[in-house]
Amino acid sequence: MSVAVLLLAAGSGQRFGGDIPKQYVQVAGQAILLHTLRSLEQEPRIAMVQPVIAAGDAIFANIMAGKNFSFQILDAVEGGVERSISMQRGLAALPANVDMVAVHDAARPMTSQAVLKDVLDVAFEYGAAIPAIAVHDTIKRVDGCGKVLETPHRACLRAVQTPQVARLDWFQAALAKESDRLHLHTDDASVLEAAGFPVYVSQGDMNNRKITTQHDLQWMQDFLEAKV
Ligand code: CTP
Ligand code: MG
Repeated sequence: MSVAVLLLAAGSGQRFGGDIPKQYVQVAGQAILLHTLRSLEQEPRIAMVQPVIAAGDAIFANIMAGKNFSFQILDAVEGGVERSISMQRGLAALPANVDMVAVHDAARPMTSQAVLKDVLDVAFEYGAAIPAIAVHDTIKRVDGCGKVLETPHRACLRAVQTPQVARLDWFQAALAKESDRLHLHTDDASVLEAAGFPVYVSQGDMNNRKITTQHDLQWMQDFLEAKV
């Protein structure tokens, strides 16, 4: 079973702000994207990483120059305006001998060995898996005017993370089936769900946090300082 990671790094980080996309911001001496790649090295089943970067990105190549990893790094491909388009382009670039694909945020740098192991174990067993954690707040479903429509039972709710893992042939079939509705999907697994493929949750982790705002960056700095 050959596992490839699609590393999505084609976003511009609007909510984070700043001069460069957030995945290239330096934390503790290296870019967030490098922290992410180093965390992936904890999982020996990962054979290759397919980076997806924005058109005209001149930073990625500089950051990667001279670096070695435990997996192969494929030539980066260009992403699109929507995350799902970036995912689709990365998927199309993968070699045909890949069996399992893990779609991962470049801006999610602190993924533990346990999270990686569990999501792959569950995906190998059921075909598709995503790391998830329980939600602490009560979640409401509202309409466009802010009127509450429903309060789903909290025990049935999960907040999900990446890597989102599935068989390559499932992702390919799901993307083909959902091609007209890709922009509606905010995560990778929802494309699989909409196409009728079963997706299971694995054990996520509070520290498997995506860097979205400056507040998350401060958290990452504090987290790394607390570790040393
Ligand atoms: N991403 C991507 N292609 C896009 C949008 C996002 O590859 N068209 C990637 C980002 O680079 C990031 C991951 O998907 O690693 C998660 O997306 P998000 O946190 O939303 O990042 P951005 O889109 O860059 O940030 P924002 O939404 O605040 O602009
Ligand atoms: Mg975004």
